[in-house]
Amino acid sequence: MVMRSHRSADVAGRRVLLRADLNVPLAGTQVADDSRIRAALPTVRSLLERGARVVLVTHLGRPRGMPVEGLRVAPVADRLGSLLGRPVPVAPGVVGADVEAIAARLASGSVLLLENVRFEPGEERNDSILSRRLAALADVFVNDAFGAAHRAHASTVGVAEILPAYAGDLMLAEVRALGGLLSRPAAPFVAVLGGAKVSDKLGVIDTLLDRVDALLFGGGMANTFLAAEGDEIGRSLAEPDLADRARELLGRAADRGVSLLVPDDVVVAPSPDGPALTVGRDAIPADCSAFDIGPRTARTYSAVIATAKTVFWNGPLGMAEREAFARGTRAIAEAVAACAGTTVIGGGDSVAAVRASGLTDRIDHVSTGGGASLEFLEGRVLPGVAAIPDASPADSGPA
Ligand code: 3PG
Repeated sequence: MVMRSHRSADVAGRRVLLRADLNVPLAGTQVADDSRIRAALPTVRSLLERGARVVLVTHLGRPRGMPVEGLRVAPVADRLGSLLGRPVPVAPGVVGADVEAIAARLASGSVLLLENVRFEPGEERNDSILSRRLAALADVFVNDAFGAAHRAHASTVGVAEILPAYAGDLMLAEVRALGGLLSRPAAPFVAVLGGAKVSDKLGVIDTLLDRVDALLFGGGMANTFLAAEGDEIGRSLAEPDLADRARELLGRAADRGVSLLVPDDVVVAPSPDGPALTVGRDAIPADCSAFDIGPRTARTYSAVIATAKTVFWNGPLGMAEREAFARGTRAIAEAVAACAGTTVIGGGDSVAAVRASGLTDRIDHVSTGGGASLEFLEGRVLPGVAAIPDASPADSGPA
């Protein structure tokens, strides 16, 4: 079923509590990457154009229930304001009499940003008092925060149980794109998984094994597979206690006819600052670590990706923040961008790699969810999604 869209709600003159995930990286008092703010714009703009009085709420970082100066939302408000072309005032807090008074005076077609909702201790424990106080600020709730949909918090779930709740455009687009990977991926379906730890990816590997034609592994997590197959991996990052699980996954892939590929060559160095050397997977020196996939592996993976009708990519293939070890990740970004099939990328680091290469526009869907996109692809029901009622014929209101 499809969640009901905010576009079916009559919001003219009504106060709308809009939960967005504007949890962006900051560099001091500046927003270092405004992708999540840009991704929230269609819903914000649509609500404003339809005459809503928008009370916007987000979390920023992990302040753990108390105010933290460096995690105030002012830089987010500034950036949002310049993208919208109008000032975005920040409320003096999250909830309470002052904030209620300001929300009550909000004019149609204007927006107020609440202070970081995680300054409130009740947010992360989905406290009913905080939910009621948030609900007191509005008449309607719209959740566009896909990136926080795996969290059952007051501002994602609690308030949806009190106010009439709708999904925002980004939330709908994320669920459509990621849901398409689970329900009707066109074959061949190729998934590329990287990142440091295989333990973070076990759930998603499990669900993908039933759906993909090829799984391509890189990054630190691939080392666990190399070691499980008997290679000496030197000082490379790995999770030796998952060797049996890795062998079991290799066996399951073989049983299902899924080609599960691990790097055939790697770029190694004694340390991230040390001299880099490309070696075969069976020739990793004892005093070195693998920090990237090698050029032969990058070519093999790119050729597999070129044949795909569906691609999902999550996680860098190496230590992409270092130029010496960024080539593998860049090659994969280029291969995914060049693929004619449907392409979906999730997870902050792979998204950053695509953005750094200027390839974002050539990807069909760049997810704003890291943990949320992985949990969704594990087949889990995300609490923030489950809290929005399904669309019904009666909801086909103004588009
Ligand atoms: C994210 O950055 O993945 C989301 O904003 C969720 O943040 P969290 O992991 O702190 O809940």
